[in-house]
Amino acid sequence: MRACVAGWGTAVPERRLTNAELEARVDTTDEWIVERTGIRERRIAGPSETTATLAVEAATAAIKHAGITPDEIDLLIIATATPEQPIPHTGAFVGEALGLRCGSFDLAAGCAGFVYMLVTGSSLLATGDLRNVLVIGSETLSRIIDPADRATCILFGDGAAAAVLSPSGDDGRGLLAWDLGCDGSATGLLEIRAGGSRLPASPQTIANGEQYLKMSGQEVFRRAVRAVVDSAVTTLDRAGVASSEVAWFVPHQANVRIIDSAANRLGIPRERTIVNLERYGNTSAASIPLALAEAAEDGRLRADDLVLLSGFGAGMTWGSALLRWGTP
Ligand code: UT7
Repeated sequence: MRACVAGWGTAVPERRLTNAELEARVDTTDEWIVERTGIRERRIAGPSETTATLAVEAATAAIKHAGITPDEIDLLIIATATPEQPIPHTGAFVGEALGLRCGSFDLAAGCAGFVYMLVTGSSLLATGDLRNVLVIGSETLSRIIDPADRATCILFGDGAAAAVLSPSGDDGRGLLAWDLGCDGSATGLLEIRAGGSRLPASPQTIANGEQYLKMSGQEVFRRAVRAVVDSAVTTLDRAGVASSEVAWFVPHQANVRIIDSAANRLGIPRERTIVNLERYGNTSAASIPLALAEAAEDGRLRADDLVLLSGFGAGMTWGSALLRWGTP
């Protein structure tokens, strides 16, 4: 038995933050942002929108799309770097709003979160003999970005995407192979220093701006390309699949130059690579499922297509998964 994506749904805030607005706020230009990142706008959560409310909206659509009811969900996992609160976990808020009483937990693996969740969810689906597992990548990164930091405020956006994982039939569809990794020697490259046990939040940490995300962009860039390529190759090798057989490459949407460089090294052309970051920026754990759901929704993904997902993020984590697309 393998896990298939039986339904999907997305939720993005209405408010768009354009490059032109950022030009007015920090020392940057639309030209620089587009050329260096590929991003033109991102969505920003309104005052009443949170990681949980976006997750609930995406999940409600995914449950409907899968043609099931919430009581048929036996496990809920949420990947996020921007939880609803430190305690309790975001899954508690989302489960309550959806009327669930099944187990739930949050998964922290940065922008590789969706791939980690796919692997974890499908394993528990099989070993726990579960009917359906609901996995959601949801982020409100605008709440942890320093609005005055031009290195990060141009990159990140808010959004959520959900998938219902259900057992496959005998059609060979579902999760075929995967690779997960983390190089903890790189924790300082992408981090929020304060607010945890190492450096609890205090007036001093706030004065230092240590509640905000800090990033060494160039070094993350360099490692990201290597991590995505190595992990994708490992995954394809495990499945015995050549990159020429991959119908769609769905990479983490961080920077179009990272995507192009990785796709190029993998030998996958742009026409078979899903890119939507020009409209959403980097939405961390929501980025891969948002791109996947859009491609599924507009009919680019066809039944039995081989779909390769690959992400990298804070940690540094990475993860790739190969799916044979199609509902059970
Ligand atoms: O999900 C994982 C999260 N993070 C990432 O994936 C980020 C990976 N890194 C990147 O995407 C890129 O490194 C950035 C987009 C962050 C930066 O692009 P870059 O080509 O690596 O630029 P750079 O850091 O080498 O900076 C080049 C120049 C610098 O000026 P000088 O030193 O050459 O005078 C920067 O100060 O561009 C300057 N710069 C900017 N200029 C205009 C940096 N940020 C900006 C900006 N607008 N927003």
